[in-house]
Amino acid sequence: MSILARNFNFHYLAICYSVLLVPLASCSSFKAKTVFKSNSSAGPSSFQIEKISIELSASDIIQARCAGCHGTDSQGFGDIKNITSLAFLRERNLIVPGDSENSPLVRILKSGYMPKGQIMPAEEQQIIAAWIQTGANEVPDNLRLPEKRSSAEILNLIQKDISEIKGQKLELANQRYVNFSYLNHEKITLSETRQLRLALSKILNSLSWGDKIFAPVSINESNLIFRIDLSKLQWTQVTWGAIAAAYPYARTPSSSAEALQRQDIAAELGTSVPIVRGDWLLKALSEPDLYYRVLQIPLEIADLEFALGVDVTRNLNERNVARVGIRNSFVSTNNRLIERHPTRFGAYWKSYDFASTSGRASIFDFPVGPIALNMNFFEPETFIQDGGEIIFNLPNGLQAYVIVDSNGRRIDVAPVTVVQDPLRIQHDVVNGISCISCHAQGMNRNIDSVRASVSANPSLFRPDTFAAVDSMHKLNSEMNEIFDLDDARFQAALLAIGGEQVVGEPITPVYYRYQSQLSIDDLARELGLTTLELNEKSNSNPALKSLIDSIEENGLITRSNFELKFSEIVGQL
Ligand code: HEC
Ligand code: HEC
Repeated sequence: MSILARNFNFHYLAICYSVLLVPLASCSSFKAKTVFKSNSSAGPSSFQIEKISIELSASDIIQARCAGCHGTDSQGFGDIKNITSLAFLRERNLIVPGDSENSPLVRILKSGYMPKGQIMPAEEQQIIAAWIQTGANEVPDNLRLPEKRSSAEILNLIQKDISEIKGQKLELANQRYVNFSYLNHEKITLSETRQLRLALSKILNSLSWGDKIFAPVSINESNLIFRIDLSKLQWTQVTWGAIAAAYPYARTPSSSAEALQRQDIAAELGTSVPIVRGDWLLKALSEPDLYYRVLQIPLEIADLEFALGVDVTRNLNERNVARVGIRNSFVSTNNRLIERHPTRFGAYWKSYDFASTSGRASIFDFPVGPIALNMNFFEPETFIQDGGEIIFNLPNGLQAYVIVDSNGRRIDVAPVTVVQDPLRIQHDVVNGISCISCHAQGMNRNIDSVRASVSANPSLFRPDTFAAVDSMHKLNSEMNEIFDLDDARFQAALLAIGGEQVVGEPITPVYYRYQSQLSIDDLARELGLTTLELNEKSNSNPALKSLIDSIEENGLITRSNFELKFSEIVGQL
């Protein structure tokens, strides 16, 4: 589900193991009928079923490889915004059911033209071809989830779960519920629910200072309602308080039996917000303010370094860091310097970013820095950075992110003059989500050009500058070993979040889907009404009426408007 295929450092994913649970050997000698064996002892529970369907496998692959750039929530590159729709693939003549050989889609994949910037394993191409050859059918309905559950059913499930955990040694006050079940409406597939589970686990553990990965517990078969334990994430009641305060959907219709049930649950768990919507939680936790608050990132980056036991000044003074001076960055329009320090949890990487390439913003003309006391760089030869980005390992091995300004103070969004995120309409790099999308596999590698440039012109620099570059800018082979180690740590943690290989980046699609605008039908669904009921209610509900009136030219309502009005609307329902 990676929304962005990077044209750098794409890691080959052992998708044969991860999606299909069959040995690679049989993957390479692919045969449509034999590959999709189910895990024989398994009953028809959610995660085994999908492995017997070629339709689902193909749909998984298209979702993971293409939807990021051509899905409904994507930018729709090449004017394709609905690649996951079978009807669209037929209409555009991309597939000829029953004839894979003459299907342009197969040719596009074979030629390597798409997925853009990625290497798609041959096994995946074969699955797509086999799917087309066998008729290019829709995912069978029995592999989709049942219809949406009513809120009464959801509350019943949660109450049942609470009564069950009372028998276990779990502190009730630390239990919370995350509910994705309203997403059920679109008959989402089981593979999508699996991605939701991974997304939730990834974001929670990415904001945890605990040393172990904690997987949220699914309380129902279709994996759409989860229980989380605050203490396992090292979160406190204060942490939850911040989340609850930001939650726009806390208000529920008063007067009904449902309201009483909700009050019971709230009382049992000792919080006014015991259940939150999963898509909102994913979105809210993956960007500031909550991202920084929950992770407790201090305002001054020096305080974070202190907490991690990283002495940047001393390391630089002793020239004891690994640096890569990048001429052509994949994200920054200008040159860029990245630098690694070890910590007790793994790595602390920081970048020095520049808003231009001239004068003191050129790391080729000014190859050492930053200007600071006690670093003993020759001041006239030091660069002056405009900001920076930081990646560090949490105790559980996952990565955390920070953007800083030129003074080393934490900021939420990087100036577009410095770095850009092509996924976002404004191209702004937002801390958290932007980093999560692009650093889905861990480190992003680039090569050093400063070392060669400085050694080619030794007479231009003082000997101590020359020596500093020589000891800090490592050879590419040495850097690759370092990158490998850091990647391995992150990949191991990723494997632990859901107990299976994560294909693509699971948080990003949920984030953008949540942020996308709502049609009138979406609006009705999110309020638990039919479109007809919505229209009727709007006559007697001024808040709803004014929200509907705020409809944009494109016939859609913004998510932020809906969030703002939600409480008032519910109060009048
Ligand atoms: C990183 C983004 C990205 C991903 C991932 C991606 N595409 Fe594309 N796709 C593009 C862009 C950009 C274009 C526009 C043409 C170009 O720039 O080459 C495009 C164009 C296309 C076109 C139109 C080609 C034409 O010439 O009219 C098709 C069909 C297509 N993509 C299919 C796919 C399929 C199938 C996948 C998944 C296997 C995929 N793409 C994955 C970015 C992407
Ligand atoms: C559009 C993709 C993209 C986004 C968004 C992005 N990065 Fe990166 N990042 C890269 C690439 C590519 C590199 C490799 C160096 C280069 O080419 O600039 C990199 C390198 C880094 C490095 C040096 C370590 C390494 O992986 O090589 C740090 C630190 C870093 N990024 C932090 C961040 C933070 C923090 C964010 C979010 C605020 C972020 N990045 C967002 C693509 C991205």
